[in-house]
Amino acid sequence: MMSSPQLCLALDVPSVDAARAVIAELGDRPVVYKIGYALAFTGGLAFAEELANKGRSVFLDLKLHDIGNTVKSGVERLAERGLSYLTVHGYPQTMRAAVEGRGASSLKLLGVTVLTSYDDTDLMEAGYGHGVQDVVMQRVVSARDCGMDGIVCSAQDLPHIRPVSGKLTLVTPGIRLEGGDSGDQKRVMTPRRAVMAGAGMLVVGRPILAAEKPAKAADEILFQMERASS
Ligand code: C5P
Repeated sequence: MMSSPQLCLALDVPSVDAARAVIAELGDRPVVYKIGYALAFTGGLAFAEELANKGRSVFLDLKLHDIGNTVKSGVERLAERGLSYLTVHGYPQTMRAAVEGRGASSLKLLGVTVLTSYDDTDLMEAGYGHGVQDVVMQRVVSARDCGMDGIVCSAQDLPHIRPVSGKLTLVTPGIRLEGGDSGDQKRVMTPRRAVMAGAGMLVVGRPILAAEKPAKAADEILFQMERASS
């Protein structure tokens, strides 16, 4: 679907002002801006629209999951705002409802397979009878068949996913530069290896936000992505 892989910066910062400062620092670098819970709940929804109106590509990472009717009407409202991407959890009923709610708008829907901070033990603790790989595969196939635009998964899952993912854009968080701190991410990969494994969008937060020079860290990641895709 997308020709060259995109870099998405997770704006996991505590305020819209902090987000504005990061965006100003990154200037006109080709970056998709992701707004997640923390920012969304402190003025981030209006800010998302403001960014979209300025021609920025905005990814709203709300990971929606509820009964179909509620998901559909929520997505209908969001689809009017000019945003580029929205996440929903990868349950078939939720994804079908989101696709219905999106209608003819240009909002792209991404299904979350299994959060990259989860491993088999976490899934077992949550009552699943299958490990990460089985659940991921099942959700990729469902997303493809439901008419989703992409899925969110660990870059480490890409080799298994690619044969069945069809035209889905493969979006991968858990990206770390060589030797970087993994934090709570359990399944990480470098930007270069993720692109080589077929990622269409890399979601990066702390490696840029916590860097001494965020713009320099973004450039390093963009450089690795460019080299890996050429
Ligand atoms: O700081 P870091 O690079 O780990 O941030 C990753 C971002 O990707 C966070 O905003 C997190 O919520 C998001 N994400 C994730 N795993 C998923 C889906 C989204 O880490 N499966």
